[in-house]
Amino acid sequence: MKLLTDKIEREGIVLGNNVLKVDSFINHQMDPQLMNEIGLEFARRFKDAGVTRILTIESSGIAPAIMAGLAMNVPVIFARKRKSLTLTSDLYTSTVYSFTKQESNEITVSKKYLLKEDRVLIIDDFLANGQAAIGLADLVEQAGAEVSGIGILIEKSFQPGADEILKKGYRLESLARIASLQDGKVKFAADREVQSIYSGGY
Ligand code: G4P
Repeated sequence: MKLLTDKIEREGIVLGNNVLKVDSFINHQMDPQLMNEIGLEFARRFKDAGVTRILTIESSGIAPAIMAGLAMNVPVIFARKRKSLTLTSDLYTSTVYSFTKQESNEITVSKKYLLKEDRVLIIDDFLANGQAAIGLADLVEQAGAEVSGIGILIEKSFQPGADEILKKGYRLESLARIASLQDGKVKFAADREVQSIYSGGY
C-alpha cells in the first residue's frame, strides 16, 4: 500500500537492525486519515472473505481494526493483555510469548463476543514473530469460529512470523512488507502476490 510505505519512508526511524519506530503515526500519535485508508484497503482485500467480526489486540491494533470494522460494517473486539475489573468470567484465554520483550502475556476475550458462527478477520499493527496473531487465532478457534484472514499493517518479512502463519494455512495480507532494516535503512519487499507470480512463473 503506497500510502503506508511512503509514510514509513518519510517518518519511520530504524533502531538497530530489527526495529522500526513508527510513533508519529501508529504506535503513539496516530494518523486518522491514514487509518481510514488502511481500513478501506483491508475492506477491499477481504471483501470476498465473508467477515462477520474483527479481532485485534490492545493497544496499537485497535485504531486500524476500528477503521476496517467501519469500512466492512462489522463489530470489532480487542483482546486484552491485562486483567480487566469488569471482564472476569467466561473468557477465552491464550498465552502469547513475546520474543522481543521476553515475557508472556495472557490474552483474553469474553465468550460473549466471539461466536461459533463467526468468520473472523484478525488485524494487528506489526507482524514480527507471529505470536500475537497465532494467539488471536487460537482464541477464535477455541470459540469454534473460523479465521477468515489475518491483516497486518507492517510485516517484518525477515522475521519468522509471516512464514509461521502461512504454514498454518491462514490467509495473510500485509499492507507493507519490510525485507530488511540493515544500516538504518528500510528496504521493502514486493507484495506477496507479485512475488509469487515472479517466483512461480520463471
Ligand atoms: P509478535 O507478536 O509478532 O511475536 O511480535 P513480538 O512479540 O516480537 O512483538 C512484541 C511487541 O512489539 C508488539 O507490540 C509488536 O507489535 C511490537 N513490535 C515488534 N516489532 C516491532 C517493530 O519493529 N516496531 C515497532 N514499533 N513495534 C514492534 P505490543 O507490545 O503488543 O505493543 P502495542 O500494541 O501495545 O503498541
